[in-house]
Amino acid sequence: MSRKIIAGNWKMNLSTNQGIELIQQIEAVDTKHTIIAFPSFVSLSSIAKEAQKISVGAQNCGAFQNGAYTGEVSTQMIKDVKAEYVLVGHSERRVILKENNTDFKAKIQRCLEQNLKVIFCIGENLEQRQAGNEQSIVSEQLSQVLSSFNTSELSNITIAYEPVWAIGTGKNANNDQIESMHRFIKQFCKESFKTQFKVLYGGSCKPTNAQEIFSCKSVDGVLVGGASLKADAFISIIQAAG
Ligand code: PGA
Repeated sequence: MSRKIIAGNWKMNLSTNQGIELIQQIEAVDTKHTIIAFPSFVSLSSIAKEAQKISVGAQNCGAFQNGAYTGEVSTQMIKDVKAEYVLVGHSERRVILKENNTDFKAKIQRCLEQNLKVIFCIGENLEQRQAGNEQSIVSEQLSQVLSSFNTSELSNITIAYEPVWAIGTGKNANNDQIESMHRFIKQFCKESFKTQFKVLYGGSCKPTNAQEIFSCKSVDGVLVGGASLKADAFISIIQAAG
């Protein structure tokens, strides 16, 4: 099997000590795949110091370079602690924190200025899927955020397709849904931005379905939430990638 990206989004979970312990257990696994951990900002520096083979990223970043933005964390600060990636556009940031495509565009710009790699999350909600609008929703998310970047900038971005109805619900998209959406995203990006993106799947990926998800030809990796918090579950997912 080709080299996959297996990313764990810890969300607002795990203390720094718990994160370090988890990293130590994952580091012990022999794998050719790219593993990325996304801890909280508070743990980011310690986790980045601990991780040797695993890459580390931030779950969010500020949309401004620096200055009077109380509570925000700049991409320069993220780069400073040797993190390599930033998650942008997660549905929890869209829905709960009310961020929009204009915010994501600014955040990606800040990431690129600091040579940070971006995992840009897109995906439709249940209502949109039931109305048959999933392709128009993701193409709008892609166009509104990515169309102003040039091909060299876009080469630092990976897409994560995360249907909102599959996140944290235990109900993953099936292989037909994943395959057809990943193909659509890749084709759309090739035509619109002349770029071949890697596309990760996210949404209730767990040890019991990981192998099936990895069997989809157009899946370049997975973004894992809940199942990334426990070493045994996350390690089974890594092993399912072959
Ligand atoms: P989940 O979350 O694996 O818990 O569904 C995925 C995500 O939010 O990235």
